[in-house]
Amino acid sequence: MSPEHTAMQFPRDPLAAVTHPDPYPYYASLVAERPFYRDEALGLWVASSAAAVTAVLTSDLCRVRPPAEPVPRALLGSPAGDIFGHLVRMNDGPGHCPFKQAVSATLDSVDRTQAAEQSKTSARILWDELEPAAEPRRLTEFAFGLPVFVVGSLLGVARDRLTETARWTGDFVRCLSPLSTPEQIEQSKTAAGHLLDLFRSLLAGQRTGGLLGTLAAEARRLGREDVDVIVANGIGFLSQSYEATAGLLGNTVLALISHPGAREQVTGDSDLLGHVVQEVLRYDPPVQNTRRFLAGSGELFGRQVKEGDAVLVVLAAANRDPAANPDPGRFEALRASRRHFTFGAGPHECPGEALAASIVEAGVRQLLASGLRVEDLARPPRYRVSGNARVPIW
Ligand code: HEM
Repeated sequence: MSPEHTAMQFPRDPLAAVTHPDPYPYYASLVAERPFYRDEALGLWVASSAAAVTAVLTSDLCRVRPPAEPVPRALLGSPAGDIFGHLVRMNDGPGHCPFKQAVSATLDSVDRTQAAEQSKTSARILWDELEPAAEPRRLTEFAFGLPVFVVGSLLGVARDRLTETARWTGDFVRCLSPLSTPEQIEQSKTAAGHLLDLFRSLLAGQRTGGLLGTLAAEARRLGREDVDVIVANGIGFLSQSYEATAGLLGNTVLALISHPGAREQVTGDSDLLGHVVQEVLRYDPPVQNTRRFLAGSGELFGRQVKEGDAVLVVLAAANRDPAANPDPGRFEALRASRRHFTFGAGPHECPGEALAASIVEAGVRQLLASGLRVEDLARPPRYRVSGNARVPIW
């Protein structure tokens, strides 16, 4: 670590980095000096360079959950545990593929125009409901609500149930974080029960039409009829969208505040907003890291690892690896051949990338069209408490 970087400037470790005001010089030092190392204090291996992150995410030794604890103990026997245990995101092997194919085919069935139209309509409805222009703090609620309004509407959730669906999703996702309090875990279980009831009745009444119907049809085509799996992964569309898309919206607003050049580009030609969002995904991503767990002992990126070890995969650091992107500290909306790891890589790569970008573009367009000047928004004082998501709170 270079001497000019003091402990005061750098975050304590890669977990504290997630919500640090500027973790990127620290990430650059990891990439340059310790691309794959063992952090004894955290009890984790840490992968940060583009090559190390790719090696971990594509390794046959790595799993998305500790093999001895496929569902967190605190959730066992609860509605939240029932959902968690069936999510493709939380399974490898037969619990992942072929159902992942059904999930991907379902999301691919939404074309760009449909995604853009639904995002625009939902952004207008939610903006009118919350009026963030009158109270900028409501931008936070707008950012979290919008992905649920868009994805929920596409799934087939009725307009008059979207607000409670957004609340339940917010409560449910708490169980996915190791930082949640016992009280939040209890709220999460209750919310999971509501979401299960809603999605079961939706599926029962929706054999065709709506993304939940498409998911059921795709699952049937692959010989997977299990209603619990279909319902859980329908809910998974909401929970996977929630924080990450809110973070992308917030970080795009921050980028427009701190990069006047990008703001002028977007004001002059709103088609450039899509490029700005893509650069935010690389430069200041809403998902900073993910984890993997060793199912066996062996060699990983040149180091001997043991069964049961855990790896923190720092996607946000890999985005700033000069081997992946030249001049990585520069914000360049029209960057040529951009490479980022924000949606993961390998078998668990995110299938929602196009939809997420569409939601965020519509949300930011709505904000700009409302007359609210982004340069007048004070920088948010803090980020939502999280060990992996970087989501500004206004
Ligand atoms: C900016 C927004 C988003 C970001 C940054 C993001 C990021 C990610 C990442 C990093 C993963 C892989 C995690 C891992 O391998 O450990 C993932 C998985 C997933 N995401 Fe997203 N996501 C976003 C939005 C969405 C949306 C809108 C949807 C669907 C509506 C979605 C659905 C999923 C699903 C189903 C998985 C599990 C895939 C699997 O395990 O095979 N995501 N996402």
